[in-house]
Amino acid sequence: MLSLTVNASSKYDITVTDTLIAFREKCVPYMRGRNVAVVTDSNVNALYGDALSEYLSDKNVLKMVIPAGEDSKNGENYFKILNALAENGFDREDSIVAFGGGVVGDLAGFAASTYMRGVTLIAVPTTILSMVDSSVGGKTAIDLPAGKNLCGTFYQPKAVYINTAFIDTLPRREFMCGAGEILKYALLSDTVKAEDLKAGVNEKLIVKCLEIKRDIVEKDEKERGERALLNLGHTVGHALEKLYGYKVSHGECVVKGLAFSVFASEKLYGLDKKTVSDMERTVNLLGHDVSAGFSAEEIAKLIVSDKKRYGENVNFIALKGVGEPRVEKISLSALYELLDDYERKNNTL
Ligand code: GLY
Repeated sequence: MLSLTVNASSKYDITVTDTLIAFREKCVPYMRGRNVAVVTDSNVNALYGDALSEYLSDKNVLKMVIPAGEDSKNGENYFKILNALAENGFDREDSIVAFGGGVVGDLAGFAASTYMRGVTLIAVPTTILSMVDSSVGGKTAIDLPAGKNLCGTFYQPKAVYINTAFIDTLPRREFMCGAGEILKYALLSDTVKAEDLKAGVNEKLIVKCLEIKRDIVEKDEKERGERALLNLGHTVGHALEKLYGYKVSHGECVVKGLAFSVFASEKLYGLDKKTVSDMERTVNLLGHDVSAGFSAEEIAKLIVSDKKRYGENVNFIALKGVGEPRVEKISLSALYELLDDYERKNNTL
């Protein structure tokens, strides 16, 4: 069993292990009230619906199951959760467990942060993406028709419990999605190597990724500056997610975005050719398809409507080298030119 502590506006431990056995010791003590809401999705419920029950036997458990998929991260489900909490007499001492991937974590986290101005949140991520990224750092959100994550809060959990055994039942696509986010860490820091993925996603690799995220979040919890580095690959990635109508996973779009970021970093900072070709090789080995299927113009148009845009500029995360990410304010026209060059190079973007 491994663990690490996040010292953000509140302090909490992340347990990384391969069973649920320590859940009672590591999480239950934070649940002060009698009521616990377990928010999960239909996929996790089918596989592990009762997995937490034995550890919560002395609580009143209210299980809420949302349909799996990004479409569920909406205002309707958010109010369903709040109303269910209210109708079942939940008070400020009670808790919410987010038991699932990124969608469940964001939705349940947003509900926890706003119900009675905030109740205890425990995160039990079940996908690689949520284990290495979204369950840690306190971002919560729902999507609005105008865009993803447009409504949310920063709200840290009281504890995060990662059970790597959940990885075994992930579909290949979900594995690829998480591997994409791990590739991001391999570019943000030289402590994680893309080759680490060959041994599978184990406790050690998860902790190495989380240490990178933890160090950034501790310095800039509310994303006033440095935390934006975690958005490497996301400027184009988010635009693609939207263009695909959220039918292509976040991680797959991030990999496409990372491939573009590496290309753009070579142009902007002269990022060395080896990093560029290593990235291309890893992406190919993982079987990711970096082609976007949309024109530079279509992608640029969506970036213009992104919330990370500032006037005529966008905050673009580029690399001077591996482990040397920088937030670069570039004009929309410069970004368009880079996208256009990339399109020409690949003839596929
Ligand atoms: N996923 C990026 C962040 O947590 O800031």
